[in-house]
Amino acid sequence: MALKITVIGTGYLGATHAAAMAELGFEVLGLDVVPEKIELLSQGRVPMYEPGLEELLGRHVAGIEGSSGRLRFTTSWEEVGAFGDVHFVCVNTPQKHGEYACDMSYVDSAFASLAPHLTRPALVVGKSTVPVGSADRLASVLTELAPAGDAVELAWNPEFLREGFAVHDTLHPDRIVAGVPSERAEKLLREVYATPLAEGSPFVVTDYPTAELVKTSANSFLATKISFINAMAEVCEAADGDVVKLAEAIGYDERIGRKFLRAGIGFGGGCLPKDIRAFMARAGELGADQALTFLREVDSINMRRRGHMVELAREALGGGPFLGKRVAVLGATFKPDSDDVRDSPALNVAGQIHLQGGQVTVYDPKGMDNARRLFPTLGYADSVAEAVRGADVVLHLTEWREFRELDPAALAAEVSVPTILDGRNALDPVRWREAGWTYRAMGRPAA
Ligand code: UDX
Repeated sequence: MALKITVIGTGYLGATHAAAMAELGFEVLGLDVVPEKIELLSQGRVPMYEPGLEELLGRHVAGIEGSSGRLRFTTSWEEVGAFGDVHFVCVNTPQKHGEYACDMSYVDSAFASLAPHLTRPALVVGKSTVPVGSADRLASVLTELAPAGDAVELAWNPEFLREGFAVHDTLHPDRIVAGVPSERAEKLLREVYATPLAEGSPFVVTDYPTAELVKTSANSFLATKISFINAMAEVCEAADGDVVKLAEAIGYDERIGRKFLRAGIGFGGGCLPKDIRAFMARAGELGADQALTFLREVDSINMRRRGHMVELAREALGGGPFLGKRVAVLGATFKPDSDDVRDSPALNVAGQIHLQGGQVTVYDPKGMDNARRLFPTLGYADSVAEAVRGADVVLHLTEWREFRELDPAALAAEVSVPTILDGRNALDPVRWREAGWTYRAMGRPAA
């Protein structure tokens, strides 16, 4: 009999995972504790912007015309317990308020709610990013609370999807990492992933701590790579070098690689910043804090980028206070193809300039609603043209395609002063300069 899957938590990770599992042919039941989310998803609608996800849901959510009907959603733990052979836990683990450590309360409460309903053999699979040591502890919670006792096992199976590419990354993972306590658990997890679409992905079997660490160390490496190139950008600026050329040249060395070497205002979002901080906090608890002191530097280089962009803007405006200056900000989300504004470098820069008296107007193709909610006091515009009208300087802070395809000549007619600062090194300097703009980028010579 085919395995039945449940997915607990329907954010970016869970909603995508549930839809992908249905695409792979499984019967899937998704659970969230927020009834509004369940209502939306049950209509095949997505509570966030994620390219391709709504189409995927539409193909499988029960009740939608022409769908496979394999995917349903609920708020009932009892239903989930009765339904599933394999339960994926996909709830989020944000940074604790005012601390580096991650907040495990959603994971803890998911396990506490699920376990009493596990009355028959099941595999619980943790996908959330957690501090190393959590799986061991959570396995004991299952042993203690699950009526089926030993017949319930826990596997840890971290997820590496990127926002904006969630569907692709879930259906075509680079690798599958399985932290498992037994051959039985491994076999069951292999069965889930032994489907045509996941075929060909390396399947790495480990113990719990290694599986948990794979995720946090991968994100730490990515963060380090970005901060490395941003540190080089600082040196390039001091020495009149060009960090874009430098990144290209070092990236041709296959040991280094060209990806994740885009210098700019740095990384943000709901993962990299909080994951490196939680990793440092956990290493401290384990007495291994010295091993990760470099991550403190990675974090501080990253945060410095935002302040540096504010200073570049000040310089472009003549060096004085921002008071009375009109600053147009293109981009609010932490990266393109997402509506996520969590720890967004773009909004942070916009906020700093606003607090210093600048008249800031923000435009973003998808992140406006979330940005307005988070920073209600900033100015917002419904189009690029409206945002830049009368601007003394334009800041390009999230590299949406829409911004790369702008016509710089047409835009020059809208602004007060045609100066653009490229915080993502993503615009073509030649095009902008030829259209009469003063173009400045981070880590590159002024002209
Ligand atoms: C990241 C990891 O990539 C993913 O594997 C993990 O599962 C979750 O965290 P995500 O947060 O979606 O994914 O975004 P990512 O594409 O990694 O970008 C993170 C941040 O780094 C963005 O703010 C992006 O603008 C920035 N970045 C990325 C750079 O500044 N330079 C780069 O070269 C690459």
